[in-house]
Amino acid sequence: MSQKSSRNATGQPNSVDSQVSGADRRQFLGQSLVAGSATLGAGLWLGGGAQAAMPGVHRSGNDILKVGLIGCGGRGTGAAHDALNADPYTQITVLADLFPDRLPSCLESLEKAFPDRVKVPAENQFHGFDAYKQVMASDVDVVLLCTTPHFRPQHMEAAIAAGKHVFCEKPVAVDVPGCQRVLAACREAKEKSLAVVSGLCWRYDLKVREVIQRIQDGAIGDIVAIQENYLTGTLWHRGRQPEWSEMEYQMQNWLYFTWLSGDHIAEQHIHSLDKALWLNNDEVPLKCVGMGGRQVRTEEKWGNVYDHFACTFEWENGVKAFTFTRQMAGCANDVDDYILGSKGNAKILRGTIDSEGETWRYRGRTPSMYVLEHEALYKSIREGNPINDGVYMTNSTLMAIMGREACYTGQEITREQLLADTTVLGPQTYEFGDVDPGLIAMPGAPGKKIGT
Ligand SMILES: NC(=O)c1ccc[n+]([C@@H]2O[C@H](COP(=O)([O-])OP(=O)(O)OC[C@H]3O[C@@H](n4cnc5c(N)ncnc54)[C@H](O)[C@@H]3O)[C@@H](O)[C@H]2O)c1
Repeated sequence: MSQKSSRNATGQPNSVDSQVSGADRRQFLGQSLVAGSATLGAGLWLGGGAQAAMPGVHRSGNDILKVGLIGCGGRGTGAAHDALNADPYTQITVLADLFPDRLPSCLESLEKAFPDRVKVPAENQFHGFDAYKQVMASDVDVVLLCTTPHFRPQHMEAAIAAGKHVFCEKPVAVDVPGCQRVLAACREAKEKSLAVVSGLCWRYDLKVREVIQRIQDGAIGDIVAIQENYLTGTLWHRGRQPEWSEMEYQMQNWLYFTWLSGDHIAEQHIHSLDKALWLNNDEVPLKCVGMGGRQVRTEEKWGNVYDHFACTFEWENGVKAFTFTRQMAGCANDVDDYILGSKGNAKILRGTIDSEGETWRYRGRTPSMYVLEHEALYKSIREGNPINDGVYMTNSTLMAIMGREACYTGQEITREQLLADTTVLGPQTYEFGDVDPGLIAMPGAPGKKIGT
C-alpha cells in the first residue's frame, strides 16, 4: 500500500518525502493487530475546520465558568473536583457517561465536597454513546474529556466545533488517524481562542518542571541517553456479567483492549514517554525498535493487550531513550526518569541532579499537579490567553503508538511509516451488541485470536 502524507505530526510540511513504496511499506497496524477495523483513505487529514470560527468564551474576574464532565469514572470525578478546587468561580453543571449507573456516585462525591457549586439537575445528566453531543449542546464553557481513550478524537472534534474550552485526558487517541483528528481540532481551537489543556499532569508539576528546566539550561551538559521506567503492578478488572453484551464487557474492561485503551504503553507509560519527548523538543522520535508480550496476563480475561514493553527510541541527533514498562504483580516496581548527560545525571521524579560532584535536590513547594493543570486552564481562559497543549499531547501519543507497533510487529518503525499509517482501530459505529476485539499481536507473525 503506497501513501503520501503531506504533513508531519505537527502539521508542518514534511521535510522528507514520506512516500513509502508498496514493497517497503509495512502496514504494521493492519498486519499485527486489527480485525474488523476501518482504514482511512490515503493522506486524509480529518477533524475540525467545518464550522465558521467563533470567538472563544472569555470570562474575566469572578464570572462563573460552567463545566461539563464526560466520563464520570475515577479520573473524571477527580478532574471535576480539581476544576472546583482550582478556581472559586467554576461550577459543574452537566455530567455524562456511557453507563447511567456511573453518574450518581460521581455527583454525590462532588455535591458533598462543593454543595453550592454543583448544579446538575436530572435534565443535565446524560448517558449513552451519544451523551457527549448533549454536553456540547449545553451552555457549559468548559468540557472535561475523561472517557476511555478511544473516544477522545470524536469528543475533541465535537467540543471545539461547539466552541468549548477543553481539559483532555491522556492518551489523546489509540491510532494515528485519531491523533491527526485531535491535532486538527487543536489547530481549530487556536483559531477560535479556545483553551486545550492536557492531562499529562507531570507537565504541570512544579518539581518536574524545575528539574526539566535545569536540564534544558545545561545542568547535566548535553543529554546522552534517557531511561524511562514505568514498572508497576496490576490494575482493576471488572469481571463479566451474564447480561452484558460483548460491547459492554469490553467497555467495562477497556484497559485490556487495544482499540479502547491503546494498550498500557499508551494508557499509562505515556507519562514517561512524554518526559523523554519534552527533553527532545516535543518531537516524535525518528525511529523505534522494541520487544514486548503477554507473559503473565495470558488468560482470555486480559483481552489482547501486552503486560510488558521495552523500546529504544532514537531522535535525529542520536539521543536514545530506553523505555521499559511492566504491569505485573510481585515484581520490583520503579517509576522514574533517568537522564544521563555529558556532565552528570538527573532523576526527574526523585527531583535530584548529580553533576560535577554536587547533588541538587528539589526543595520547593509540591502542590497537586492535578489542581495546578486546572488552575492554569481557568487562568488562561480568564486572561484571554488560552493555553494550547495540542502538539505535545498528540506527539506523546504518537510516540506511544510508535513503541507499541514496534513491539507488536517486531519491526523497526520509522516516523515516516508511523505518520503514513491510516489504520483506524475499533468499530465504525458504537452500539451494545457484538464487537470484534481485534487480535493479539504476535511479533514477526500474524496476530492470533483471544483465547487461542
Ligand atoms: N492523568 C492521569 O494521571 C490519569 C490517571 C488515571 C486515568 N487517566 C485517564 O483518564 C481516562 C479515564 O480513566 P479512568 O481511570 O477514569 O477510567 P474509568 O473506567 O474509571 O472511567 C472512564 C469512564 O468513561 C466512561 N465512558 C467510556 N466511554 C464513554 C463514552 N463514549 N461516552 C461517555 N462516557 C464514556 C465509562 O463508562 C467510565 O465511567 C483514561 O484516558 C485514562 O488514561 C489519567
